[in-house]
Amino acid sequence: MDKPNNPEASTIWGGRFDAGPSEVMSRINASIDFDRRLYAQDIRASKAHCEMLVRQKIITAADGAAIAAGLDTIVAEIENGTFVFRTALEDIHMNVESRLKDVIGDPAGRLHTARSRNDQVATDFKLWVRDALDALDTGLHDLQAALIDQAERHSASLMPGYTHLQTAQAVTIGHHLLAYVEMIGRDRSRATDCRKRMNESPLGSGALAGTSFPIDRHFTATALGFDRPTANSLDAVSDRDFALEYLSLAAILAVHLSRLAEEIVIWMSEPFGFVKLSDAFTSGSSMLPQKRNPDAAELVRAKTGRVIGALAGLLVVMKGLPLAYSKDMQEDKEPAFETADTLALCVAAMTGMMRDIVFQTDRLTEAARASDTTAVDIADWLVRERGIPFREAHHVSGRLVKLAETKGCRLVQLSLADLQSVEPALTEAAKAVLDVETAVQARTSFGGTAPTRVKEACADARKRFLGGKDVKQ
Ligand code: ARG
Repeated sequence: MDKPNNPEASTIWGGRFDAGPSEVMSRINASIDFDRRLYAQDIRASKAHCEMLVRQKIITAADGAAIAAGLDTIVAEIENGTFVFRTALEDIHMNVESRLKDVIGDPAGRLHTARSRNDQVATDFKLWVRDALDALDTGLHDLQAALIDQAERHSASLMPGYTHLQTAQAVTIGHHLLAYVEMIGRDRSRATDCRKRMNESPLGSGALAGTSFPIDRHFTATALGFDRPTANSLDAVSDRDFALEYLSLAAILAVHLSRLAEEIVIWMSEPFGFVKLSDAFTSGSSMLPQKRNPDAAELVRAKTGRVIGALAGLLVVMKGLPLAYSKDMQEDKEPAFETADTLALCVAAMTGMMRDIVFQTDRLTEAARASDTTAVDIADWLVRERGIPFREAHHVSGRLVKLAETKGCRLVQLSLADLQSVEPALTEAAKAVLDVETAVQARTSFGGTAPTRVKEACADARKRFLGGKDVKQ
């Protein structure tokens, strides 16, 4: 048996406990090693609570002033590194409260009036997730800016477009990059939705049932930038779906980043040779001197696992909990912290790569021309100019591809006589549509790949996602 080692801990909950917890109890119970990251939110919420207690005449103005000043001292101590975090005091809430007692003495004991750690932690954590969402939005804005800059630069540059990773049709590089701008735009809008839905204050819900003190929950909600207080105290202390929603949108975003990272890895491989990344975003091999590896992209791809793992982990933590608070919920923070750190790093790395990347346009154009990507354009011509049903026209085009194959050449290299041997209705004008550049320029449907459309789409994306503002490079 472990012997009690922290008599000090029991002083926090007061009378009921004689001895402190065992050493192992203290270790499994304490969250201070990670929840110290909530210090700013914890103190901000405590100050709002204290101000409300004074306004409602639940505590005196003098005690309130002492508490507020003490809390300011504690923030300063934490920020200048002199604050001593103690495992015996379990978590950030009790570390702050205990230190407050050292700093201001007896009035410290009045701060926790009409409050429980259950509504306190829900409030702190919500404030933290809200800050994380705001920081994420800024990072994603910058990533979109980097993508849009490249898309503008390459609004008319050709590249092969793929389905099944088989060359399908030529597209413009700008068009391809704008696809990611749209995905990230939806990620940002999911974050905005999440922020809006979660923006209700749990503070004042007490342990689970509310309080008999005449508190003003609307005041604290407004003071903390929430839209309103939560409507149900049981829900307020039990809800972690705001964290689950954050992790869900984070997982979807991580998947988007991973797909782009995967494309960078493919594009940088020798057989493709579509892009170059500088020394800033690659690394060498310890054995093979000729190598340049896309490590940053690989790691962005790999770190997706952590984010998806965080979501899966918290879903499992929550799935069997009865109302209201259970200590299981202390396990909610690390997945969120890890996700925020991982995403910040991955978004910054991806933004850096997107500014650094150099598209090898000659190689990309050559690859876009290397395959019979305009076979469908001949079919479309027959439909448009000769009124042939598409299915039939598709067959004609298929026979032309086969003819080129037999002759060991590309579709564009067939002579007019070759074309007419398959379908007499074909003319020089039909032959012209086989040119890749012409084909790309013709795809002017809304959302299509034609350079004219991509230029408009870049301007539109700038307006929709960057607020038309210039962004730092
Ligand atoms: N450290 C705890 C957590 O993160 C704070 C809430 C503790 N509440 C309780 N009733 N023991 O969940």
